[in-house]
Amino acid sequence: MQSFTYHCPTEIIFGRGAENAVAEKLRAFGTTRVLILYGGGSAERSGLLSRVEKDLTSAGLAFLVMGGIRPNPRVSFVREAIREGIAADVNFVLAVGGGSVIDSAKAVAHGIANPTVDIWDIWTRKVEITKTMPFGSILTIPAAGSETSDSAVLTNEDTGRKLGLNTPLNRPVFAFMNPALAFTLPREQIAAGASDIMMHTMERYFTSVKETNLFTDRMSEQLLLTVMESVKRLLVSRKDYDAMSELMYCGSVSHCGLTELGRMKDFSVHKLGHELSARCDATHAMTLTALWGSWARYVYKYDPARFAQFGAAIFGVDAGTDEERARACIRHMEEFFTEIGMPISLGGLDIGQLSKGTIEELACAVTANDTIQIGNFHPLSRADVIAIYDMANH
Ligand code: NZQ
Ligand code: ZN
Repeated sequence: MQSFTYHCPTEIIFGRGAENAVAEKLRAFGTTRVLILYGGGSAERSGLLSRVEKDLTSAGLAFLVMGGIRPNPRVSFVREAIREGIAADVNFVLAVGGGSVIDSAKAVAHGIANPTVDIWDIWTRKVEITKTMPFGSILTIPAAGSETSDSAVLTNEDTGRKLGLNTPLNRPVFAFMNPALAFTLPREQIAAGASDIMMHTMERYFTSVKETNLFTDRMSEQLLLTVMESVKRLLVSRKDYDAMSELMYCGSVSHCGLTELGRMKDFSVHKLGHELSARCDATHAMTLTALWGSWARYVYKYDPARFAQFGAAIFGVDAGTDEERARACIRHMEEFFTEIGMPISLGGLDIGQLSKGTIEELACAVTANDTIQIGNFHPLSRADVIAIYDMANH
């Protein structure tokens, strides 16, 4: 097993009514003024936002509320929230929502703590940050895993780039996780969330590291099986508390880092997907399932045994050569995505099939004009990236 260091400081408060303790927890952090962020309106419609406001008022906490964060969150909103947060002298940023709101909260907290720096300069790593201010979340959708992850993703609408930033400073101080808050999710978002959780697990499972790490493998395999079973139950009955609990818990474990210990993560499918989202504003996980099969078919030959192991654990594929089992595993995974209503090619996204020129532009953006390779299972050059987009382009 490879050596590793792991530290995830996020306190998880999980269960029915968990969020009722948010004011108490904020006070425990010495908070006096909170910037509450939320998305396009689901938190208002469910009554969650007004409950949180009432609780904070009762606890004597001052707060400022800003809504309107869109999926694939924009840097322009973040800049405005930083200005408002500084003007109101807040000392905590509370996200009420999913990955888009939590990622915005992370960026806003970094911006408030570093007021002389433009937030995009932090995202493009022109400026390294060494401090932030406390932030946490009330999670409303099991999906991105941002509630515990060290990552945050923003879209710059001026440059057309969607970029992730990984830093220990992205770890929230707490995450309130009440599965019942996700009962209002539309079915497409449940399927998309489950797919993203699976991707976070697979992006780490398919690694170039050869030393064995059985526990991490088995944890990942069981996590995937749990997600696949739970999402099918939820697509039948959205208010199945037990199934939603499994999905929400798996969502955090899939991206808090535990499933990558002793390995190197890949994340090339995410990088290919982010470029698509930046261009057409597609739902994050839809870009991933649209590309995964093509990525897998392109790279499995570099370690068919790894795909065969995966296929045996997840789909019970145990006959044939490693190569045959690897191909069967990829086919089964695509069948699963299709079964839960996710696209398995670019034709299944709103943007539809891409022109040759567009694919070349995307590939240049992903590989910084062919100056870098992406991923670790098999590092991909610009030509590899073009080949994968081409394979998915139907
Ligand atoms: O905006 P509202 O009205 O709240 O509606 C949202 C949005 O339309 C809705 N929703 C959320 N909770 C709901 C609800 N609707 C009804 N009832 C509820 N309880 O769901 C839609 C999607 O919300 P969003 O926050 O965008 O979803 P998700 O959690 O999938 O986050 C996606 C974003 O996270 C990034 C993605 O790239 C994307 O920008 N990611 C962040 C990561 C991280 N920070 O670690 C890792 C991921 O790989 C991912 O890249
Ligand atoms: Zn993701």
